[in-house]
Amino acid sequence: MRERLKRKVAENLRHPRGFFGKLIGRFMNHFNKGIIQFTVESIPEIEIESIAEIGIGSGMALKLCAKRFPTAMIYGFDISKTMLSVARRENMKSITNSKLKIDQASISKMPLENESLDVLYTINTLYFWEDPDQVFKEVYRVLRNNGHFIVSFNPKEEMNSFAYPNDLFQFYTADQVGELALRNEFKLISSQVYQDRYEKYICLIVKK
Ligand SMILES: C[S@@+](CC[C@H](N)C(=O)[O-])C[C@H]1O[C@@H](n2cnc3c(N)ncnc32)[C@H](O)[C@@H]1O
Repeated sequence: MRERLKRKVAENLRHPRGFFGKLIGRFMNHFNKGIIQFTVESIPEIEIESIAEIGIGSGMALKLCAKRFPTAMIYGFDISKTMLSVARRENMKSITNSKLKIDQASISKMPLENESLDVLYTINTLYFWEDPDQVFKEVYRVLRNNGHFIVSFNPKEEMNSFAYPNDLFQFYTADQVGELALRNEFKLISSQVYQDRYEKYICLIVKK
């Protein structure tokens, strides 16, 4: 029974669905609040016209991002229809003001023009990328020159693999993600450790 519940939680962290997915969305807001704030605050002070977040969950980071960058156009993508509806409700004001667009899409194929973004960030989605090299290539495609890619994640050494079935979650060390970025032509800007009372995270910033 415990194993079945663990698997259901893991499946809904990867792709929240229905009522249980919404519940998991609430848990994510509580447990991930620190790294969400840290990531949005880490977006560099460059001239920003357009930003995208991929894997928006319930839309907490988008709200902070819209507040921090009131003149930027912001895009939010997620594969989960359940999360899209929650995130739209939470960010209705920015959507109505045409500052934010939220759509269904995967990080491996985004409905964005080549070289159309200044910043792309993603929090707690790395574990679910089926082909990480392909994701770095896709992000490279949509970023402008000097555009920044920010990836926040729990590093492998921190994670109790028993709690997360490895057909659903893949964990990486900070070095492995840095290596992925470098071999896909990004330049390393910074790799910061963020620790809150629940977990340790890496917030990696690379640049095209
Ligand atoms: C663990 S939740 C994290 C949500 C939020 N970023 C946070 O940190 O609280 C992962 C989110 O990423 C979405 N997701 C998973 N794989 C994705 C992919 N390939 N492309 C876009 N979104 C994805 C899920 O639907 C879910 O909303």
